[in-house]
Amino acid sequence: MKANIGLIGLAVMGENLVMNMESKGFTVAVYNRTVEKVTRFTEGRAKGKNIIGCKSIEELCDALEKPRRVMMMVKAGKPVDELIEQLLPHLEPGDVIIDGGNAHYPDTIRRCAYVEGKGLLYVGTGVSGGEEGALKGPSMMPGGSPAAWPLVKDIFQSICAHVDGAPCCDWVGEGGAGHFVKMVHNGIEYGDMQLICEAYQLMKDYLGMSAAEMHDVFEEWNKGELDSYLIEITRDILAYEDADGSPIVEKILDTAGQKGTGKWTAITALDEGIPLTLIGESVFSRCLSAIKEERAAASKVLEGVTPKFEGDKTAFVEDIRQALYASKIVSYAQGYQLMRAAARTYGWNLNYGGIALMWRGGCIIRSRFLGRIKEAFDGNPELVNLMLDDFFRGELAKAQGGWRRVCAAAMLNGVPVPAFASALSYYDGYRCERLPANLLQAQRDFFGAHTYERVDRPRGEFFHTNWTGEGGNTTAGTYNT
Ligand code: 6PG
Repeated sequence: MKANIGLIGLAVMGENLVMNMESKGFTVAVYNRTVEKVTRFTEGRAKGKNIIGCKSIEELCDALEKPRRVMMMVKAGKPVDELIEQLLPHLEPGDVIIDGGNAHYPDTIRRCAYVEGKGLLYVGTGVSGGEEGALKGPSMMPGGSPAAWPLVKDIFQSICAHVDGAPCCDWVGEGGAGHFVKMVHNGIEYGDMQLICEAYQLMKDYLGMSAAEMHDVFEEWNKGELDSYLIEITRDILAYEDADGSPIVEKILDTAGQKGTGKWTAITALDEGIPLTLIGESVFSRCLSAIKEERAAASKVLEGVTPKFEGDKTAFVEDIRQALYASKIVSYAQGYQLMRAAARTYGWNLNYGGIALMWRGGCIIRSRFLGRIKEAFDGNPELVNLMLDDFFRGELAKAQGGWRRVCAAAMLNGVPVPAFASALSYYDGYRCERLPANLLQAQRDFFGAHTYERVDRPRGEFFHTNWTGEGGNTTAGTYNT
């Protein structure tokens, strides 16, 4: 019997995806560069299953029904390009190459064009949910050659997570659209995690709460609007004890790692000219955490204040919840702005409600909140900014009191809250009809004759003032990013 799909790369995600596919009735051919891994797999957890172990790429391609579908689950970067080169001689026009790793979307755009140039089809799909998601149902964000979608749809929508019967997987768009949306997912993941960490630091350092008390707070929060996978695991982490019975979280070194997807999101935002401030701050916070020795030395010499809380702790915990919730709305609003901008740049017809649905289950940022986002975009697919949706506008209005109190208290007490504060500044900036950029334009014109537009003249007319009486009337070219 021929296999329905082939999978290359038997690391934890790859293996689990194979088990998932097999459990849904698909026969899977597998190959791994270190061939012993294939044998270990087929004689181990894959034994007795409809899983065909292959010892070469050629053997794998021969084992597949046509048109062939080959999914690569290898390390992002050069290994993907190398593998495509090894696959091409064994594939025929109409076959589909799928990349399920965390590829950078420009690479996927390039690879898609390259593979299509050879008459084959290409899919770059985001797969989120970690090892458990891969096994039990991940969120999947496929993009690439549109003609490939009908060929992979059945498999993808069978193995992915489902919420209320709807699959958390749908076609995202052409070229690198799938990997782009997965990248933004990861950026939002960085933001959500940073927000939770700021709430934790405030509760610990400002309110003096124990891990057990914070566990109870997160348990409560998980019953309301913040109900999500990341709040849930934070609750469980806070209750987890080390061998000596003390909370393990306090024994973990405070230096964050990162593989780069959050950084790519922030860089893309800078390229697109989108103020993705919260995710940007989340990436920088990880960078700041990484310079542990420098911070330790600075903590001894740089003057600050000692956090001192007075008042109603329960009320302040509720303020923190409001700050987290409001900042989260801002973060998603910014993430969606970035998707809109990239959709324009790359000609993708993104379905914003559909993307929220794909993220509602299976992935790391899964939450009840995403159901609301789907409703917002279903109600108005042209929504300019999520904050302007009636529901979210009302939620922000309700939360702003607590949000402002938390940011103010954090500043006065020397507790860093870059994500809470940048979100609030964005909110205030966005609702500000007149920002101080008039002064900035004057400065640019003063030192560089960069010109400015006037409030009392139509847009598009540019003026220059000879500020010092010494400059001429020559102006610099005007362009905006
Ligand atoms: C997912 C995750 C995953 C990511 C890790 C680690 O959706 O399952 O986003 O793809 O690689 O969470 O990311 P960092 O090492 O950058 O934190």
